[in-house]
Amino acid sequence: MKKSCRRAIIAGNWKMNKTPKEAEELIRGILPLVKDADCEVICCVPYVDLPVALQLTNGSNVKVGSENCHWEKSGAYTGEISADMLASMEVPYVIIGHSERRTYFGETDVTVNKRIRAALDAGLSVIVCVGESLEQREQGITSELVSMQTKIALNGVSEEEMKRMIIAYEPLWAIGTGKTATSEQANEVCSVIRNTLKSLYGEKVSEGTTIQYGGSMKAKNAAELLAQPDVDGGLIGGASLKPDDFAAIVDAASKG
Ligand code: PGA
Repeated sequence: MKKSCRRAIIAGNWKMNKTPKEAEELIRGILPLVKDADCEVICCVPYVDLPVALQLTNGSNVKVGSENCHWEKSGAYTGEISADMLASMEVPYVIIGHSERRTYFGETDVTVNKRIRAALDAGLSVIVCVGESLEQREQGITSELVSMQTKIALNGVSEEEMKRMIIAYEPLWAIGTGKTATSEQANEVCSVIRNTLKSLYGEKVSEGTTIQYGGSMKAKNAAELLAQPDVDGGLIGGASLKPDDFAAIVDAASKG
């Protein structure tokens, strides 16, 4: 299967930004600019913004995602949101294992796997993030590390469920730093991930799975990154908060 047969997906990750009122303004700004997109467009928003985002995107080509979910269905987990709660709101996507969750909130490969399991069981589609720190890159362990993160994340995920999995390669040193991986570096690691998928599930799944790059992707560098054979989309932080910038990346993916 060729790259052109895979779903190109541009997903915004708003992180801890935008009140519901600000979210309304941002979604209203994005919708007309991406309405003719020839790729999938997703906005992953803070929990409190989900109702307004779902309402405003209803009937449009923009899908909504959450930025995390817990692995238990319910219970004494103060401050957490379950995958079933998201599913009950008809939220179709969830980001799991973002490096900020891993760095600041004690997320591990094992808890990432548990959250993925819960999200898939609830019927959600998942964007799972993997990636190395600068220190790990300098140690020359990027490939092993990213491959291992991918394998642990997907432990127990079936071939059929892989249709609802998207992998985002996000080198930590490129997130929010303005320092983007070169298109060669991005492609090299995305291709390591694809080979890992091949070893786990075979060629059909590995060739059919969307692998995104994330880390300071913006209008200026999107086209070059997205032109790489193993880069099928982007997970966009900072640039997803500005309608013009986000739409320019969606445009680049539509042409790719
Ligand atoms: P950035 O964030 O585009 O601001 O670097 C990407 C991400 O963290 O998903």
